[in-house]
Amino acid sequence: MAPTQAEGKTLLIHEGRLLDPSQGLDAVGSLLFKDGRIEWWGQGEPPVKPNAVISVPGLVVCPGFIDLHCHLREPGFEDKETIATGTRAAARGGFTTVCSMANTRPTVDSRATVELVLHKARTEGSVRVLPVACVTQGQQGKQLAEFGELAEAGAVAYSDDGRPVADARLLRHALEYARALGRPVLEHCEDPALAAGGVMNESALAHRLGLKGMPAAAEEAAVARDIALAELTGAHVHIQHVSTAGAVELVRREQQSRRVGTVTAEATPHHLMLTEALVLGPKGGDITAALGPGAYDANAKVNPPLRAQADVEALRQALAEGVIQAIATDHAPHTLADKLCEFDQAASGISGLETAFGLVMGLVHASVLDLPTLVARLTSGPARIIERGLADQGLSGLGSLRVGAPADVTVFDPNAEWTVDPGQFASKGKNTPLAGWRLKGRVMATIVGGGIAYAAPGLAVQKAVEVAGA
Ligand code: DOR
Repeated sequence: MAPTQAEGKTLLIHEGRLLDPSQGLDAVGSLLFKDGRIEWWGQGEPPVKPNAVISVPGLVVCPGFIDLHCHLREPGFEDKETIATGTRAAARGGFTTVCSMANTRPTVDSRATVELVLHKARTEGSVRVLPVACVTQGQQGKQLAEFGELAEAGAVAYSDDGRPVADARLLRHALEYARALGRPVLEHCEDPALAAGGVMNESALAHRLGLKGMPAAAEEAAVARDIALAELTGAHVHIQHVSTAGAVELVRREQQSRRVGTVTAEATPHHLMLTEALVLGPKGGDITAALGPGAYDANAKVNPPLRAQADVEALRQALAEGVIQAIATDHAPHTLADKLCEFDQAASGISGLETAFGLVMGLVHASVLDLPTLVARLTSGPARIIERGLADQGLSGLGSLRVGAPADVTVFDPNAEWTVDPGQFASKGKNTPLAGWRLKGRVMATIVGGGIAYAAPGLAVQKAVEVAGA
């Protein structure tokens, strides 16, 4: 965890634009933290004299971002990422809480592995880590993991992400257990037979490039099945990284009819902002330079694949409407060697924690979303999806600036422009197709439990002052 606030100490975030969609708050004011919790917010003088002040005029102060979907790779794949590097990347990206996926080695399917992740996060992490445990043992799709034991150890949800749960009967039973424990099953929706061998979106472009595609139907068939199972069991199915217009439509129709069960969805910044055309590559960056001009950009290889413009439009519309409740990064760091090879052979995934906010701010600058809606999809939206898990960890109120909530806050400048340089990432994963891109919207500070997990160069030095005599 980030250095948390010492007992009895207070920190004032002074005069920013306080933006908290969970309570309809959007006003200039200050925010006081004490003992790791939000003590007060309002205008004028705080009720007690603070020990320290960070002045944030002109900046937005909102609840800390919550990422429902990221790969921290530890244990087992420390060459790609560790809990230390991944959570540092999260802090730089404005995320105060990340849900770590279970496709590690060993997979997170036992009490011991959940505890290991939590221990590492406590001792080496910069932000909160909430483990997501496997649906099936070893993610093999054969036998269910021990759901009760995993929840007790601290898992907030279940997912075999990286691969689908192909056996519908097994998933039905998983949903029955998850429902009893008040937790969602996070589903990587992909019909394995339909998607087999695909390395990009199935489209005219894929045919031209001679690359095997994954059809939209592979995702949509799985989403339709999962919706049917949510209704059958009354459980909560959360659709991960939704990427096609058809999948969005299935979720929308289900939410409108709302028979039984709950169906929620997340979209990634890359599926909201990029299309399959990026497979053609380069906008700069070391890896693409090394591959040589004209090569396909393996940094744009991701699963589900980047889709067509019409899909991007449908996702944006659904995000604005609230059919998609959360933006989740699917941060998937890989080594250079994993990507520096033929497109067919390259690993799937984008290192996304540090570019997520700047990228999705493009939706606000293009007037697709207003700022409060964007912030809601990064804060209260994801918090609701894992509500019960948060409550079980004593983290109720996360995703809001309510008095008494954990003192997790993100401070950002919506208009600051910057250039993506993977060489500067805290993440070990430099795999992004965005190298060299100019983004508008920058995280300035990330505060976890009242402690500063990240401050942009300049901010803390110039503006965080110890108050004399306090
Ligand atoms: O592109 C992806 N990479 N999609 C996934 O579902 C898994 C992830 C990974 O683990 O690298």
